[in-house]
Amino acid sequence: MVWRVLLTVVVVIGVAFGAFYAWAWNSEIPPTNAPAALFDPGIVAKGAQLAAVGDCGICHTQAGAKPYAGGFPVQTPFGTIYGTNITPDPETGIGSWSETAFRRALHEGVDRTGNHLYPAFPYDHFTHATDSDIGALYAFLMTREPVAKANRAPAVPFPLNVRLFAAGWKLLFLHKGQIPPDASKSAEWNRGEYLAESLGHCGACHTPRNVLGAEKRDAQFAGGQSEGWLAPALNAASPAPVSWTAEQVYAYLRNGFAKQHGLAAGPMQPVVRNLKKAPDADLRAIATYVASLAGSQNDAEREQKMQAMLDFARSRDSKVPMPLSGAITTSTRAGAEPGRTNDDSTAPSGAVIFLGACASCHHSGGELPVSRPIELGLSTPVNAPDPAALLRIVLDGIHPSSGERGPIMPGFSGALTDPQITALVSHVRSQFSRQPTWPNIAAALTKVRQNKEPATEAP
Ligand code: HEC
Ligand code: HEC
Ligand code: HEC
Repeated sequence: MVWRVLLTVVVVIGVAFGAFYAWAWNSEIPPTNAPAALFDPGIVAKGAQLAAVGDCGICHTQAGAKPYAGGFPVQTPFGTIYGTNITPDPETGIGSWSETAFRRALHEGVDRTGNHLYPAFPYDHFTHATDSDIGALYAFLMTREPVAKANRAPAVPFPLNVRLFAAGWKLLFLHKGQIPPDASKSAEWNRGEYLAESLGHCGACHTPRNVLGAEKRDAQFAGGQSEGWLAPALNAASPAPVSWTAEQVYAYLRNGFAKQHGLAAGPMQPVVRNLKKAPDADLRAIATYVASLAGSQNDAEREQKMQAMLDFARSRDSKVPMPLSGAITTSTRAGAEPGRTNDDSTAPSGAVIFLGACASCHHSGGELPVSRPIELGLSTPVNAPDPAALLRIVLDGIHPSSGERGPIMPGFSGALTDPQITALVSHVRSQFSRQPTWPNIAAALTKVRQNKEPATEAP
């Protein structure tokens, strides 16, 4: 009797595993010679725009190396997975891939020979892309310069390095198929949803992930992480003091700056730089969709919140002590500890550092020669649940992309010590935001300093 039960259990497990294996098994798609067919230039141009929306160049280009030839490290909590060579080189790239094999990779996360790919490649979004958009991407990539550059093996520990695990992940979290249009919404909104959810993969950074690294479906756009940065919530939980309008999201995506919110920094910067190649109508569509995520706040409510914020900032302005000359340098004596508060006379005072380093530009009222920075109280990093973004801005400053005009803020990485930056950031939070204070700015600063520079865009 007992052995019968055991045997049944073993058989059931065996069958289940066999079924999973059969399900997970993918055939190799035979290699083709690099397609001799001439691609329609119009389709190639469309593919270029879609590749920009999909950030293909970011993850498939190593800093300083040839575009699309791979080697960019995608950091995940499970290890580092390198973007592969997607130039048409037949040996090391995808030159021998047919369009069918390419489409299967984007829709199902399977490479030409049948291996499962890791979801660091955001095919959980690309799976929603239409066949014709994928065809255009294929035409664009197949007309790039072929580069011979071998792929780097993923640095993930056992057992995750067994690619069959990716199949298990897909069984749980890959939801294939087109996104059904919402008939109650405008054509523009539906176009925006399609672009943001599929190739745009906005949720890859802006949606929190579960322990297995999949986006939480019940917390879409509730705020996520990317390269040590906080990608703020874009839904009703957005920390922006004044909610985003479609016009403002459009300005932010088009120029990297929205007057009532501030500018794109960190990993959002290369996203914006890529979007420069996207047509205006597509950006407006994405903006319409994104602005709708936060729910409705009408103009009157928005105006009221803005005014309340400005009043708050001005009431705080008058409480700032007058600058003490030399205060910043005298407070840098050795032994000053991070995180000390203003009432410790030996620690640098955040308010005094602010006056010396920041207030010349960030004060209420008056005009800078070009344009005044936004009220700090309106800035998302200042109101965010985590100080990483503000710390990054203080360390690096803000610089326009090379060859472009734009507002400049100096970086203070070399000019201020860690205890000074900690005190300053603590002051900025309490001075300009009505959100709770940040508990451990010094530890966050150490982490931000360790994080490498944000990725650059493929030319
Ligand atoms: C967030 C980073 C990221 C983005 C954005 C991205 N990829 Fe990838 N892609 C990867 C990684 C990482 C891999 C390798 C996965 C693996 O090794 O399992 C990959 C693999 C691939 C593969 C399989 C290639 C091979 O040799 O197996 C193709 C094809 C591909 N990507 C195309 C694209 C296209 C087209 C786009 C833009 C629409 C794109 N990727 C955007 C990270 C990315
Ligand atoms: C690679 C990760 C990544 C991707 C992909 C990404 N974002 Fe972001 N996004 C960020 C980060 C990080 C920030 C915060 C930037 C900062 O603090 O300046 C941000 C900021 C934003 C903001 C400003 C929010 C605020 O309140 O300040 C908007 C709007 C936005 N992203 C929209 C989008 C849209 C739309 C897409 C898709 C087309 C997208 N993002 C794709 C990482 C990303
Ligand atoms: C030379 C003028 C200048 C100085 C000095 C300066 N800033 Fe800025 N700051 C700018 C400009 C210009 C911007 C970008 C335009 C904007 O965001 O409105 C900016 C943007 C910011 C932002 C981002 C706002 C957002 O969300 O987009 C923060 C936060 C900030 N500054 C804080 C500081 C702090 C803290 C200091 C002192 C350590 C400082 N700044 C010193 C000019 C300056």
